[in-house]
Amino acid sequence: MAYALLKTLHVLGVVLLLGNVIVTLLWKLAANRTGEPRAIAFVQRLVTLTDWWFTVGGVALIILGGYGAALVAGLDLLAVRWLLWGQVLFGLSGLLWVGILIPAQIRQARQARDFAAGGEIPASDWRDARRWTGWGILAIVPLLGALWLMIAKPIEPLAVRQMPGPGSLLRIP
Ligand code: HEM
Repeated sequence: MAYALLKTLHVLGVVLLLGNVIVTLLWKLAANRTGEPRAIAFVQRLVTLTDWWFTVGGVALIILGGYGAALVAGLDLLAVRWLLWGQVLFGLSGLLWVGILIPAQIRQARQARDFAAGGEIPASDWRDARRWTGWGILAIVPLLGALWLMIAKPIEPLAVRQMPGPGSLLRIP
C-alpha cells in the first residue's frame, strides 16, 4: 500500500513537471511571436508562477515518491540499472535547469518587469528568450529518456522488468 501510494505521488510529480515545462515552453513561444511587450511580460509572470507551483512541486514529488518507493521496495539505487540511469538523466536535466535555464529565466523576469507597461523589449531579452527556448527543449530530452527507462526498464533482465507487486520485484540484483 505504502509502495503504491509513493509510486502514485512519484508519477503525479512526473505529470506535473513534464506537463508544466512543455506547456510553459509553448505559451512563451506563442507570446514571443506576438512581439507585444505586455503579452510577453504577462506570460513571463505566469512562467515564474507555474514554475514555483508545478516544476518545484513536481520535482519534490518525483524525489519524495521515487526514493520513498525505492526504499520501501528495497531497491538498490545503484545496482538496478534503470533506476541508476533514471537518476542520472534526472540529474542531468536538473543541471541544465540550475546552470542555464533558471538564470536566464530570472533575467527575463527582471526585464519583463521593466517593459510590462509597454516599453521596448531589449535585445538582451530576445537573446535570453532564444537561449531559454533552445536549452529548455534540450533539458526535456533527458526527462523523456528517464520516463521511457522507468516504464520499459529495458536494460534489466526480464525477471526484474516484470514486477508482479511491491516487495517481490526488485530484490533481484
Ligand atoms: C530521482 C530519480 C528517480 C527515482 C529514484 C525514481 C524511482 C522510481 C521507482 C522506485 C519507481 C517504481 C518502479 C515500479 O514499480 O515500476 C519508479 C517508477 C516510475 N518512474 Fe521514477 N524515479 C526517478 C525519476 C523519474 C523521472 C525523472 C521520471 C520521468 C520523467 C520517472 C518516471 C517514472 C514512471 C512513469 C514510473 C512508473 C513506471 C511503471 O509503473 O512501470 N521517474 N520510479
